[in-house]
Amino acid sequence: MSFTVSLYLDLAPKTDSFSEEVIEGLSRSQKTLPSKFFYDGRGSQLFDQICELEEYYPTRTELRILSEHMPEILEALGQSAILIEYGSGTSTKTRLLLDNLTDADSYVPIDISREHLIAASEHIQKSYPHLTVLPVCADYSQRIPLNLNPTPGSRITVFFPGSTIGNFRTDKAVEFLSRLCSIVGPGGGVLIGVDLVKDVDILKAAYDDALGVTALFNQNILMHINARMAGCFDPDMFAHRAIWNEEEQRIEMHLESRDRQTVELGDTVISFNKGETILTEYSHKYTLESFASLADQAGFTVDHVWTDPDRLFSVQYLTAVTPGRNGREQQPS
Ligand code: AVJ
Repeated sequence: MSFTVSLYLDLAPKTDSFSEEVIEGLSRSQKTLPSKFFYDGRGSQLFDQICELEEYYPTRTELRILSEHMPEILEALGQSAILIEYGSGTSTKTRLLLDNLTDADSYVPIDISREHLIAASEHIQKSYPHLTVLPVCADYSQRIPLNLNPTPGSRITVFFPGSTIGNFRTDKAVEFLSRLCSIVGPGGGVLIGVDLVKDVDILKAAYDDALGVTALFNQNILMHINARMAGCFDPDMFAHRAIWNEEEQRIEMHLESRDRQTVELGDTVISFNKGETILTEYSHKYTLESFASLADQAGFTVDHVWTDPDRLFSVQYLTAVTPGRNGREQQPS
């Protein structure tokens, strides 16, 4: 028996928009690159390696929270017919849910890395033959027309683990969560991983590990750009930096130019001063209070919070506020 799974929706960004976003970001005074461009095939592999690192506490802590509190989590989720996962990657954490969510009939993994997504979907299909697997290749910082029709009485649940919400600036996080709120509808919910504010040294080590895997992951964004738009970046000419921004409560990853240099990207030439940086990622950290306020602004209430004993990480179940509660009306979709 074969388990070939084809994409349900292919909304992968076109090369044109990739180049435009790169050039636009590199034209700002603080040069930036969108962190979603980390995830080509190699980037997804390097991310999986990061998750195994001693210093990178989020993955194992979240897995531990999920497995230790699974009965309560399932109780909170209730009957879920459709499970949508944003940034599904290897779908490892999802298995914990799918093993237990016996009501689920469809699983919709959404990821920007096409090959990784298809391979993961085929593995999932093999393990759960009765599940309808509907992979969507897309950049989920954009609106995705999903058009899912759950059977009446059952819920849509969104799973958004890994604290990937931290990649969004606060205003964008509210915008993104608001979109999830209209997708799940009243009564639906979001099971989300939220990384917590903690000792700065622990944070810095998590984003600048001793083996240098995070440095390779950061530099790989330049290789991805080289491949996609005939670029001439020399990744070794850029040093990895992980900086804690106290005011914004976030780790920032930068690539710092080791020298004065110019880099050709197709027809465009970008100049760097020595020490100038490209900001490649934000990873915002929250307190339970600051996240609750974010969720509230997006139309959710925090139904439940699970944490580890050291309070490094949290898994939270947010429910869409039904019309009228908190004086807020449901946005028409
Ligand atoms: C996948 C976005 C949650 O911010 O911790 C890991 C990505 N970057 N190490 C994070 C990442 C550097 C990760 N997220």
